[in-house]
Amino acid sequence: MPKLSCGAVNLAHVGQAVELNGWVHRRRDHGGLIFIDVRDHDGVTQIIFDPDLADVFATAESLRSEDVVRVAGRVRARPAGTQNPKLPTGDVEVAVEHLEILNRSLTPPFVIASDDDVDENLRLRYRYLDFRRARMQHNLGVRHRIVKAMRDYFDAHGFLEIETPNLIKSTPEGARDYLVPSRVHPGSFYALPQSPQLLKQLLMIGGLGRYMQIARCFRDEDPRADRQPEFSQLDVEMTFVSQDEVMTMMEGAVRSVWQQALNATIPDPLPRMRHAEALRRFGSDKPDLRFGLELIDVHDVFQGAGIKFLETASGGPQAGQRIAAVRFPGGGTLSRRDFDALTETAKTFGAGGLIWIAYAPDGWKSSIQKLLDDERVERLRTRCEAQPGDALLIVADREQAASEIAGRLRLHVAERLNLLDPKTFAFCWVIDFPLFERDAQSGEITFSHHPFTAPAPGQEELFDEDPLAMRAQHYDLVLNGYELGSGSIRNHTAAFQRKIFRKLGLSDEAIDDRFGFFLEALQYGAPPHGGMALGLDRVVMLACGESSIRDVIAYPKNQMARDVMMESPSPVSPAQLRELALEIKVPAKSAG
Ligand code: AMO
Repeated sequence: MPKLSCGAVNLAHVGQAVELNGWVHRRRDHGGLIFIDVRDHDGVTQIIFDPDLADVFATAESLRSEDVVRVAGRVRARPAGTQNPKLPTGDVEVAVEHLEILNRSLTPPFVIASDDDVDENLRLRYRYLDFRRARMQHNLGVRHRIVKAMRDYFDAHGFLEIETPNLIKSTPEGARDYLVPSRVHPGSFYALPQSPQLLKQLLMIGGLGRYMQIARCFRDEDPRADRQPEFSQLDVEMTFVSQDEVMTMMEGAVRSVWQQALNATIPDPLPRMRHAEALRRFGSDKPDLRFGLELIDVHDVFQGAGIKFLETASGGPQAGQRIAAVRFPGGGTLSRRDFDALTETAKTFGAGGLIWIAYAPDGWKSSIQKLLDDERVERLRTRCEAQPGDALLIVADREQAASEIAGRLRLHVAERLNLLDPKTFAFCWVIDFPLFERDAQSGEITFSHHPFTAPAPGQEELFDEDPLAMRAQHYDLVLNGYELGSGSIRNHTAAFQRKIFRKLGLSDEAIDDRFGFFLEALQYGAPPHGGMALGLDRVVMLACGESSIRDVIAYPKNQMARDVMMESPSPVSPAQLRELALEIKVPAKSAG
């Protein structure tokens, strides 16, 4: 008797005796018969129990959701009018002759057979039950297809997949390290890789030419919807390449993934935007291009208006300032209370306040009504191409702050207007990043990507005079407002790499201690090289139309960085601590 999966039964099997194994998905008792949808990884088939087979029927009566069964019976066509066109097996049913209960299930804490929202911590606590639901089965299937498409693509382009270790020494990617104590070397620690950055560069020095890996990375950062302490990258590195060549190779990979996993075609080539332009037009280095509503400069309109608190800002970029406007289509009919709420929202984005102008049907209104006149309000309207019935949201601040706040307001408006369609894929490259930036907290010079990134050619003289003006050979791939991946051409001489470390404030002693092995390797004929890493979880999240990477990772940590199923992290035994020569001193505040 053929053993079929629950998604495979169809009209071709009518009249045959078949075996099915699976879980009780749904049960209906109807007209003296018992109907059960039996489910496995492949789908659902309807099976029927007839009271004429008294023994089997009696056992079937005891079946509850998620019990595990093996049944044998004959496939028959469903009577006319009872077919289910939504199911691949919807034309048939199996009349059960034998039933074996392989295992019983406790009552699940949530309904497996429905798509209803369930508290996320409950889903994570019972992740194995969550896997049984259609959403996780689908998402993990898409993830598999994406990884396969990536591997196939890079294999076809001559890349080797090479595994790099997880017990390594700290590599700086801008986050805190996870540390693993060594038993063999008491008092010493391994660091888990924030990425395989140095290891892949060493593979290039080793002449391996084209490397790829689906790499696990670890960063001790606060989790967010698009960030996990442990995540995966599609990591790539190549020798003797230009920035354009890496970008073309990666673009091909993404195109192939979208084609094979989603059957979707994406533009060729993908659009490119300079970093400064992305900030100006969209207020973000990861612009969401699914909709317009670009930021508009309006500082000149406020010049000479005699508005005291806008005097500095109306100097515009020359004064290091910006007044940026965001159009809110249809916002002209919002109430004062709505605008007050918008002002509070802007404050959570870091704004000191918000200027709004509503072009209402009965005339314009504004948060600075008394300070504006009809002529200036009309100039603002035409500059921003606002229609009657629209509103303008205006932010004045230091240039970068104004851009970023206005950029977040732009997204906020788009969200309210439902412009963020998850089925639209708007890719773009952001290029021409600065090499260095000033750390907001310490005021020190720091790297903007990582310290191994090479500057754009011909900028050497800026190194001492004006390092913050230096551009980098650094490129980001952005999709729908998310940074999907990041890469760069690397510094391949030891002398220049040391110069960069020094610029970042490291002493020669610290450089040699942390990166001595790497600087040494660079001196053995290191070839020019470059590469990139895509955040695999983000790629899958966007491909699945999800808004959290937790929904595309089999066992993610929750928002508190905890595994609520295994209950980790958790204390360890005194014996284990002794073995590792560790002593725990939890500050009173965080104990318990
Ligand atoms: P970067 O640090 O920009 O670059 O990381 C590359 C991509 O990895 C993803 N990512 C994350 N995804 C989930 N959770 C996180 N905590 C997380 N952090 C990063 C993002 C990001 O764009 N070694 C370099 C790459 C290179 O230069 O080749 C690197 O790791 O999608």
